[in-house]
Amino acid sequence: MEFGSEEHKNLFCRFFLDSHREFRPEDLPWPELSQATVNKLAELPIWDYAVHTETQVHRKLSAYAEIEPDPLIREALSLQAEEERRHADLLRYFLNHYGIAFSELPHDPLPRDLEQGFRRTGAGECIDSFFAFGFIALSKASPDYPLELIEVMEPIVQEEARHILFIQNWFLYRRGQRPFLLRPLHSFEVLLAFASAACARLRDMSNLGGQALTLQAREHENSSLSARQFIHLCLRENRRRMRGYDRRLARPRLVPRLAGLIGFFL
Ligand SMILES: [Fe+2]
Ligand SMILES: [Fe+2]
Repeated sequence: MEFGSEEHKNLFCRFFLDSHREFRPEDLPWPELSQATVNKLAELPIWDYAVHTETQVHRKLSAYAEIEPDPLIREALSLQAEEERRHADLLRYFLNHYGIAFSELPHDPLPRDLEQGFRRTGAGECIDSFFAFGFIALSKASPDYPLELIEVMEPIVQEEARHILFIQNWFLYRRGQRPFLLRPLHSFEVLLAFASAACARLRDMSNLGGQALTLQAREHENSSLSARQFIHLCLRENRRRMRGYDRRLARPRLVPRLAGLIGFFL
């Protein structure tokens, strides 16, 4: 199968549409939590940012879906936008359910170039998901948070795996659609999107006053894993989460390769 072909488009859009799961946040099996656990969750400085990020991704994707001329890709993009809205709603439900205070931050303006905006959002999801898969596996193994709570979040995490699989194939589809000589330009645009998403993450972390990073580092410390072992865990979890899907779909490569390279030198 050639990336950029009609067959490729049908494959990556159909995989995405067919693997969607119906659920409502309020129907999930939210466990009883002790006050100590709720207090610990409330201390995390990430909630405003998390709700805001999911909401912005939803808005950007909805806007981009509207201008996508191909009906099948539009349907898949709209579904991803809806899943992002549900992530934001699920977080709001979770915070309200346990009485954890948070604020709704004002919307960011939509990017002028919506396709470029989707490239950056997609690159950001590839970076976030790679590490999130490792952190989730770590949390499951640690006694810090009840396993039942982490299991409730599981559908979101696997949804992000579907998103990055879709995004990787969308990158390759768009590239394959370009005339042969212009394909390197597309690869450059994708690299730029990854660089800009990585910079945005570093900026966001410093805006959070380094607290999120410190907390993650502390959890990491508690787990007694070295940075290298953590990268290996992320790589393993990435492979596991991608395993169930059609083998003809391209898997995200850039972030795992870079992380693997860093792991090699650590
Ligand atoms: Fe999301
Ligand atoms: Fe996503």
